[in-house]
Amino acid sequence: MLGSVPLFSSLSKPQVRRIAETAKERSYKAGDVIVRHGEKGIGFYLVLAGEAKVERAGQLVATLGPGQFFGEMALLDEQPRSADVRAGSAVRCLVLSAWEFWAAVGDEPEVLRTLLKETVRRIRTDKAALSE
Ligand code: CMP
Repeated sequence: MLGSVPLFSSLSKPQVRRIAETAKERSYKAGDVIVRHGEKGIGFYLVLAGEAKVERAGQLVATLGPGQFFGEMALLDEQPRSADVRAGSAVRCLVLSAWEFWAAVGDEPEVLRTLLKETVRRIRTDKAALSE
């Protein structure tokens, strides 16, 4: 499944296999908080199954499904989590620590470009929502 994730589409099969081997799979029940707003976080999460709800002050910001990722903001700027992420259904994620993430893709410009593009899109969306 990892081979079909857009974020990793520029990687070779051995690179994707290495990510699959180092990352840990975690499961959450509907309603579980996966990532908490304001907490220090070092994990990068890729959704394998189910729906993850991004919420801020109880308001739904986005819904993320299989192949999408979250937790990249705290990974990029080493600041606290910018939102809660809650399991909207049973959710399975692949989790990479910051160290594992940078070791796997830190030298991969296409992955970093895709990551930054999506992050900037999210920041713009959040900013627009805040100024409404
Ligand atoms: P992070 O700040 O580490 O933890 C909360 C995560 O929610 C954040 O990283 C992003 O991955 C995610 N997030 C924040 N805002 C949005 C948004 N507008 N759309 C999708 N995901 C978001």
